[in-house]
Amino acid sequence: MELVKKYLSDHAERNVEELKDLLRIPSISADSNYISSVQEAAEFVCKQLAESGCDAEIVETAGHPIVFGSWTKKPGAPTVLVYGHYDVQPPDPLDEWVTPPFEPDVRDGNIYARGATDDKGQMYTHIKSVQGWLQTVGELPVNVKFIIEGEEEVGSDNLDKFIEANKEKCACDVAVVSDTSQYAPGMPAITYGLRGIMCCEVNLHGPNQDLHSGVFGGSIANPVNALAMLIGKLIDTEGRIQIPNFYDGVLPLTEEERTAFANLPFEESEYLGNLGVSATFGEEGFTTLERRWARPTCDVNGIVGGYTGEGPKTIVPAKATAKISCRLVPNQQESNVVQNLESFLRENCPPGLKLEFKHWHGCPAVVCDMNSPYMQAAKVAIEKGFGTAPVMIREGGSIPVVGTFKELLDVDTLLLGWGQNTDNLHSPNEKFSLEAFQQGTLSSAWLWNELGV
Ligand code: BES
Ligand code: MN
Repeated sequence: MELVKKYLSDHAERNVEELKDLLRIPSISADSNYISSVQEAAEFVCKQLAESGCDAEIVETAGHPIVFGSWTKKPGAPTVLVYGHYDVQPPDPLDEWVTPPFEPDVRDGNIYARGATDDKGQMYTHIKSVQGWLQTVGELPVNVKFIIEGEEEVGSDNLDKFIEANKEKCACDVAVVSDTSQYAPGMPAITYGLRGIMCCEVNLHGPNQDLHSGVFGGSIANPVNALAMLIGKLIDTEGRIQIPNFYDGVLPLTEEERTAFANLPFEESEYLGNLGVSATFGEEGFTTLERRWARPTCDVNGIVGGYTGEGPKTIVPAKATAKISCRLVPNQQESNVVQNLESFLRENCPPGLKLEFKHWHGCPAVVCDMNSPYMQAAKVAIEKGFGTAPVMIREGGSIPVVGTFKELLDVDTLLLGWGQNTDNLHSPNEKFSLEAFQQGTLSSAWLWNELGV
């Protein structure tokens, strides 16, 4: 490890420069105007994997490409599958960025750019740690495979198909993903559970065009009123979701877990202060961490309809749209939630409107074994890389492939997040701490050592 450590510190600056090059590529998977940039990012990652000493190839899919890499020259040693994503969320609203989202800028120890933490910067630590080993020691203590995809932010549908069709190629003993957060600055964490997700869209169509609300208003259903009414029925005043059978099978938290959550330092006033909100709201009877990590949700992500320009305009709009997502917890069936939501909306929709329902994507929640030898190795590696032992946490966000790894490859995932939840992921001014970039890379290098033979 001494050689590896020296290599990584000698190349620290180069690694940051290379990360900047990757961050300059606007690989926005959701926006079809950026298809060629997404491709370019895949090629960049593929080249980096090859330069690190791995075999690397680009696998085309029906959507954005997957980069597959491997170094498997250590017979008898465990095989680790590293997953990450090179695609990013759209950068909007653009005018809230201090520096442009695809012109990485280093300020007060952070690198600012879309994808800095989610997930280019975090993913990159594993490529660099492997390079550290292969360019000094000449081999790794473990076998590694890399799957770096370009569709995580849009649901990973094609990745699931790739894994299904390539189980042998993807076979491993454990997966490693750095696409989550530390618990707090100075408090690295291992995430042992993620919520799942159900993502959909509802369109309500009323009259064939916008109408005068004086002439026609009151005689037919207004799609925007109706949509607001439907959305209003989704959650009651105590934060309970009203979709029929929504809580069926939901695994309750154990007392042990509730105690563990309660023992983590958490200042509600600070939490709210950071968010600019004056009070919490959520399901009665649960703490904020419980609500965020282990209880299901239903959120409207966006709503559009009618006239929203300057000044008044009196119309009955022709159409209204809402994008809705539910976060899911263990034992909730995504397909049931989709069906129940759709029929709930249809049953409650006022007459005369046409309701169109589109299911975008979804994935189940996961909880991993906290006491596996892999977890132990990860704890040691993080303590060595960060100088502090990690805390065990769950996370409210979703990483679809983690459920797929469990289902198709029968492996647990080590979710080793180097970022912070205050890194503005999915928001303007996304950032990643350069120190966390180094510490993460070092922890990754130690992880190969701890997992290896
Ligand atoms: N990296 C995030 C998930 C995450 C966020 C984990 C914060 C821990 C802390 C991931 O890229 C993400 O945003 N996933 C989407 C998945 C969805 C589009 C299927 C999510 O959670 O919304
Ligand atoms: Mn991510």
